[in-house]
Amino acid sequence: MKPDDTPDPPHPFPPDFVWGVATSAFQIEGGADADGKGTSIWDRFCRRPGAIADGSDARVACDHYHRWAEDLDLVAALGVDAYRFSVSWPRVRPLGRGAWNPKGLDFYERLVDGMLERGVRPYLTLNHWDLPDALQAEGGWAQRGTVHHFVDYALGVHARLGDRVAAITTHNEPWVIATLGHDSGVFAPGLRSRATAAQVSHHLLLSHGLALQALRAAGSRAKLGIVLNLSPVYPASDSEPDRTQARLEDGLLARWYLDPLFGRGYPIDVWAHLGADAPRVHDGDLAAIAAPLDFLGLNYYSRKVVSAAGAWQPGSDGLAVTDMGWEVFPRGLTELLLRLHRDYPLPPLYVMENGAAFRDAVVDGTVHDGERVAYLAAHIAAAGDALAQGVPLVGYTVWSLLDNFEWASGLAKRFGIVHVDYATQRRTWKDSGRWYRDFVHRQRALRHAGVQPVGPRGDATPAPTFDTPRRTSS
Ligand code: FCB
Repeated sequence: MKPDDTPDPPHPFPPDFVWGVATSAFQIEGGADADGKGTSIWDRFCRRPGAIADGSDARVACDHYHRWAEDLDLVAALGVDAYRFSVSWPRVRPLGRGAWNPKGLDFYERLVDGMLERGVRPYLTLNHWDLPDALQAEGGWAQRGTVHHFVDYALGVHARLGDRVAAITTHNEPWVIATLGHDSGVFAPGLRSRATAAQVSHHLLLSHGLALQALRAAGSRAKLGIVLNLSPVYPASDSEPDRTQARLEDGLLARWYLDPLFGRGYPIDVWAHLGADAPRVHDGDLAAIAAPLDFLGLNYYSRKVVSAAGAWQPGSDGLAVTDMGWEVFPRGLTELLLRLHRDYPLPPLYVMENGAAFRDAVVDGTVHDGERVAYLAAHIAAAGDALAQGVPLVGYTVWSLLDNFEWASGLAKRFGIVHVDYATQRRTWKDSGRWYRDFVHRQRALRHAGVQPVGPRGDATPAPTFDTPRRTSS
């Protein structure tokens, strides 16, 4: 499909809807030990034989540490409102505590100022997985001390950049850090213990809540929140065992994080399932975790189907799958958003990541990635469906600006709307990049024309604003 053949979704998006594009530090920066950067758990994990599917590492990645200005020009050319990026903790504080690295802080200052100069709002993530290795040596996220080091790190970054960023996310996808990093061990730090993973999840949530409190006490003007990876979980059949399994999986993936964030404590069915592996929780921890959110972010890629009998084969229902083997299921995004709206007293919500890996090739100086165009258009429409039904969605951010280091899959999986040739570091626009640029441009034009957003029944949809009053603590 050519980009301009793709119809726009009906127009439910309010004028102040935030369109963005995302990356993370470890996946693009390279400069693995440039200018005094410390080692992260992902630097170490990449050296473990067999850990990265294609044997690659992120020592250079997109060399964004040196090419950041050129990359911000790409962001500016897209015409998006927001750029979601992350700070590498070991780049700014090499051992995770103690001395700060001025050159690391200078880098992010240049980056943030570069966004502002280009009219792009900085959305900063503090923890997109690259914990300083020195803290892992002391026990990492399994150790309660790391919670306090994180709060200290958050305050230090805020002191330097907090006056210029629009939003600060504490953690990206705590489920991934806890479960893939500490239970299945397929991500850094590569541990395999369910009890450790459960403790890690608690410490991540606790550090999030304490960081929010500390940042507010420090007078933060940036909006503060957290980003979860969420999927609707469907039973493979109507059988009782499949439905029970689906409920448990939803508990582990979603309710385990959402319930405590919204002041409900940990869900008792999941707690019972964990048995002796449930985390140690101190008095006051749950109140801290429930610190009011200015926003909640979610990353959506696919649905999850579970069967009590064993692993579900993605695509077995006939859905297309991406190069990651993830099913293309836009309706899942609508259903997920509606479910969140039904079950929780939501603050303003962002889709902070959405996108797809396909096998792209540069042909005649461009990349025809019609599948990615179709994926993005369908998911934006799905988000619009939820918005039109009252979900307080305020923004949508594409994963990713650039092809980059896709964690344990290495450099082989390409999510970018801009192609990166790793041998030459040449950036090449894909059709999806041009499509997203034009789409955002058309949204802008509607804004300027003062066109009212319209819901599915043709009625004007009330525009949720970012300044929705904070939920009072419960
Ligand atoms: C998410 C991560 C992001 C990227 C996408 C594909 O889980 O947050 O860094 O790797 O998946």
